[in-house]
Order: sequence, then C-alpha cells, then structure tokens
Amino acid sequence: MKVGALNPLFIGYYFGRRDSLNNQMSESRRAVAAFLLLFSVSFRSTFAQLSPNFYSDICPEALPTIQMVVYNAIANDPRIAASFLRLHFHDCFVNGCDASVLLDDTPTFKGEKTAGPNNNSLRGFDVVDEIKAAVTLACCGNVFSCSDILAVAARDSIVALGGKTYDVQLGRRDAKSADPNAADADLPSPDFDLSALVSNFESHGLDLQDLVVLSGAHSLGFARCATFRGRIYNESSTIDPEFAGALRSQCPQENEGGGGVLASLDDSPARFDVDYFSGLKQRRGLLHSDQQLFSGCGGDADSLVSFYSEKREAFWEDFGAAMVKMGSLNVLTGIEGEIRENCRFVN
Ligand code: HEM
Ligand SMILES: *[C@@H]1O[C@H](CO)[C@@H](O)[C@H](O)[C@H]1NC(C)=O
Ligand SMILES: *[C@@H]1O[C@H](CO)[C@@H](O)[C@H](O)[C@H]1NC(C)=O
Repeated sequence: MKVGALNPLFIGYYFGRRDSLNNQMSESRRAVAAFLLLFSVSFRSTFAQLSPNFYSDICPEALPTIQMVVYNAIANDPRIAASFLRLHFHDCFVNGCDASVLLDDTPTFKGEKTAGPNNNSLRGFDVVDEIKAAVTLACCGNVFSCSDILAVAARDSIVALGGKTYDVQLGRRDAKSADPNAADADLPSPDFDLSALVSNFESHGLDLQDLVVLSGAHSLGFARCATFRGRIYNESSTIDPEFAGALRSQCPQENEGGGGVLASLDDSPARFDVDYFSGLKQRRGLLHSDQQLFSGCGGDADSLVSFYSEKREAFWEDFGAAMVKMGSLNVLTGIEGEIRENCRFVN
C-alpha cells in the first residue's frame, strides 16, 4: 500500500524550513513531524482507501449507467464480458489498477497495448470509450476514472453471464504513463508451470487460492491457437486425447499458419460457471497454465480445483473476494494520478 502523496510532501516542506528556524525548536519539530507521519499513515488507511460508495454523492447515476452500457455490449457480443474481465486483470498486474493498459500508442509513446501478452489479443477498448462517454454525461462532468470503469465493467460482466455480484471498491485514479516492459515481465505466460504461476501471483500479493479462483475467469472467453498449440501437439500425457484431436483439426502446426484461430477456454464460454474446473479434472484445460492447476496427483492446487468444481456458490463468493483483492493492487488515490478525460490518452 502506498503512503499518501500529500502528507510526505507536507513533512518535507516542514523540514525544508529547518535552517530558517531556531535550532532549539528541533526537538519539538521532530515530535510534530513524527506525529504528522503517524497521522499520514493512519489517515491513509482509515480514510483514503477505496470505498464502494466513492461516487454515491458525486454521481449516483454512474453505476447503473455503466451497467447499462456493459449489458448492451454483451447482448451484441457475449465475448465482450470475457474481454472486460481480462482487461481489468492486465491492468492490475502491470504496476497496479491504474488504467495504464488503456493508453494508445502514439508516434512518441509506446504503451502496453502492443506489449507481448496484449498485442492483437486484448479487446473491448471501443466499449470502454462508450462507457466513458456515457458516465461523463450521466455525472455532468469528468469525475469517474477509467481504472474504476475497468473494475466495474469486469464485475458487471460476470454478473451478466450468470455469476454473483460483489461490491466493487472505488476511488482509483488513472496513471499518467504506461510501462510496456512491465507488461512483458509481470503478466503470467500460458507456458508457465505451477511454480512459476504461484510466484507470479505471490509477487502481486496473491496466494495459491487466489490463483486458482481467479483462473476461474477462464470460464469465459477464448484463446488463440498460438497460445495453446504447444499443449495440443506436445503434451499428450496431460491432455484428454479426444479433446486434443478436435483442437488439432482447428489449430494447425505453426508452419501452416492459423495462429489466430480461436478456441473457448471451457465448454461454456458465455456462462460464468464451474465448467472450467470440471474441465481441468478431465484434462481438458486449454492452456498449459490452466492444466498446471490440476495434475491428478494431489496437492493443494488439485484440492482447490476439485472443491470449486463442485461448489458453484463458493466459487462465486471467493471469486468476488479475490477480484476485490486484485482490484486494490497499487491503486492511485487522493491527489495521485488524474481522472483521464479520454481513456486512451493522458490529459
Ligand atoms: C493464471 C495465469 C493466467 C494466464 C497464464 C492467462 C493466459 C491467458 C491467455 C494466453 C489467454 C488467451 C489470449 C490470446 O488469445 O492471446 C487468456 C484469455 C483470457 N484470460 Fe487469462 N490468464 C491467466 C489468468 C487470468 C485471470 C486472473 C483473469 C481474470 C481475472 C483472466 C481472464 C481471461 C479471460 C476472460 C480470457 C478470455 C478473453 C477473451 O475472450 O477476450 N486470465 N488468458
Ligand atoms: C503487434 O502486432 C502487429 C500486427 O500483428 C505487429 O505488426 C506488431 O509488430 C506487433 N507489435 C509488437 C510490439 O510486437
Ligand atoms: C513440439 O515438440 C517438437 C519436438 O520437441 C517441436 O519440434 C515442435 O515445434 C513442438 N510443437 C509445438 C507446437 O510446440
């Protein structure tokens, strides 16, 4: 958690005046500074955290407005729900949930959209623009941050496809920069083994249970052939042969092209359910990283997968809690960052 931006500045200012003040005052000044530091920390953790009610007074219409745009978009294209969920994840895992992922590349600026894990694969940016326009209109001004839009759109998406609702924490502000190198380094790869997945999540303050339950996001949406080719051609010992065969007929070897062909990440890509977990138990995980969560040899990940495959309510409940946890990673609040006017560009 970050310490408030305002208060350290204030303390720095106070000490900066030291030489112009009487030396005898230094003890009491130190005491005051210590008090200010304490106060700044407690102020931060007591008042300046995210809150579900952040916009209740300034824009009570914001949440229903966003939900309406999200639902309309999903009615046109159910996959948009998956794409929103993934956008929030790819935002939060790269230097925090600060909407850095939404910044467009320009001739003088390289953002995260074209970084390895994102290029030609993240989607939903047009709908984010639509949401931003609608919520700015509904709020009579630019008060609702792009990073909060991503958090709310992810929640509304899972609810639209049958999941259970949870309160989204709000009050994030938007970054003034992006970090394509961090996007390459900090997002987990579909080629990761379990231990690499676990350490990647741990480096984001998330534990094994968070990893397993959040991977349940792959109950929705699709992946490109290029991301699961290695698994269907080369992992015969951990994949259901019939499942692999059907996929091989869709997704040719690399020298034959077809890297963009899509396959669904579970049997019901437009329903937020536990089929993803039952699929893993049948060795029908699409990505190498998916199947790493269930080996059939026991262990904590296997137990969690088995548990969620049978407990839909628990999955929904724990998924919401883990999303809130993920959604609080390195957020900007208070006077940090800005409220972007156009989610694609800094103000
Ligand atoms: C555990 C590590 C994870 C890995 C290795 C991983 C990897 C991937 C890959 C390779 C794709 C397909 C991308 C493409 O076609 O280029 C994908 C899709 C997707 N991922 Fe993940 N992912 C992980 C965790 C998550 C998490 C935590 C979430 C959300 C909470 C998530 C949400 C999604 C969704 C919804 C899709 C489908 C998107 C669409 O259809 O547009 N993933 N993931
Ligand atoms: C992103 O994809 C486009 C189109 O396939 C490609 O031309 C470009 O080189 C890629 N960008 C990066 C940074 O890999
Ligand atoms: C599968 O493994 C073989 C032998 O190691 C390799 O030549 C081939 O490129 C791999 N195929 C895929 C799709 O990873």
